[in-house]
Amino acid sequence: MSVTASAPGKVILFGEHAVVYGEPAIAGAIDKRIYVTVEARQDDKVEVLSGAELNDGYPYVLKACERVFAYLGRSSGLTIRIRSEFPPASGLGSSAAVTVATIAAVSELLEGSIPKKEIADLAHKVEQDVQGAASITDTAVSAYGGILYVKPDLGVVEPLPNKNIQLVVGYTGKPGSTTEIVRTVKTLRNQHPEVVDNIIHCIGRITMLAKENLGNDLGGLMDLNNGLLEALGVGTFELSALIYGARASGAKGAKITGAGGGGCMIAYAPGREDAVSKVVEKGGCLAMLVNLGAEGVRIE
Ligand code: MEV
Repeated sequence: MSVTASAPGKVILFGEHAVVYGEPAIAGAIDKRIYVTVEARQDDKVEVLSGAELNDGYPYVLKACERVFAYLGRSSGLTIRIRSEFPPASGLGSSAAVTVATIAAVSELLEGSIPKKEIADLAHKVEQDVQGAASITDTAVSAYGGILYVKPDLGVVEPLPNKNIQLVVGYTGKPGSTTEIVRTVKTLRNQHPEVVDNIIHCIGRITMLAKENLGNDLGGLMDLNNGLLEALGVGTFELSALIYGARASGAKGAKITGAGGGGCMIAYAPGREDAVSKVVEKGGCLAMLVNLGAEGVRIE
C-alpha cells in the first residue's frame, strides 16, 4: 500500500530574517506543491527516490521519518518518492514543504492522519534539527495553507483574509542556503547590534502596517522591506537586476523573498504580470505566476 501527501511552497511577503529575532512575518502558501509518496517495504531501510535536483531535501525527509516514528512509537522500512512543482533551495519553502508532506504521508501510512497542528510542530522541529535554527514560518504555512500572520514570540499564527493576491516570482537560478544566510545576518548583528536591531525592528513595523491593510500600498511596503533586507546583506546582483527590472516593467513593488543570497524575488504587478514575467525571462531567469492562499498539506 502507498500513500501520497502534498504540501504547498510559500512566499514570504514581509518579515523574513526579522522573524528569526521575534518580529512578525506575513507569508502565503502558493499554488505550487511538493508530492511525497511513501510505501512500506519488507526491510527496515528508508530509501528516498527523487530527481537529482531534489537531493537537498534528503536530510529533511530522513529526519521527518525519525520524528514521526518517535511521535507514533512505531516505525517501518519505507520507499519514498518525491516530485516537486518548483525549484529547491530557491526561497520558496521546498524544505518545509517536503518535510510537511513526508510527515503527513508517513503518519497516514502507519496510523492514520494526525492533526495539522502536530504536523506543523513536528516539521518545525525537523527544520531546527537540520538547520540549527528556523522560525515557525515556512512549516506553518506549508501545513495550514492560506495567508498567515506569524507571531514567533508567541509561537502562533493567525490566518489573514485571502485577497486573491497574484505575484510574479523570479528565480535567479542560483540556490541560496538558508542556514548560511541566517548565519550571515547573525554575524552582522553581533558586529553592529544597535544598528541591526533597529533594522530588524523596522522590518517588524512594516509587517504590522501591511497586516492592517493588506492590499493597500502592498507594493510600496514591499519596496521598503526590500531596502532593509539589502541593508542586512542578503541581496545579490542577480536579485537586484530582477527587482529593478520588475519595477521598470510596471510592478508596484518587488522584493527578495525567503532567505535571499540567491533564490527568488517576488513582484506585485497587477495587470502587468506578463511584462514583468518577460523581463525576468529576458534576464535568463525563471518566471512563475503564483496565487497566494493555496490549501495546506493534504492526503492525495
Ligand atoms: C526562510 O524562508 C525565512 C527566514 O526568515 C528563516 C526562517 O524564518 O527560519 C530567512
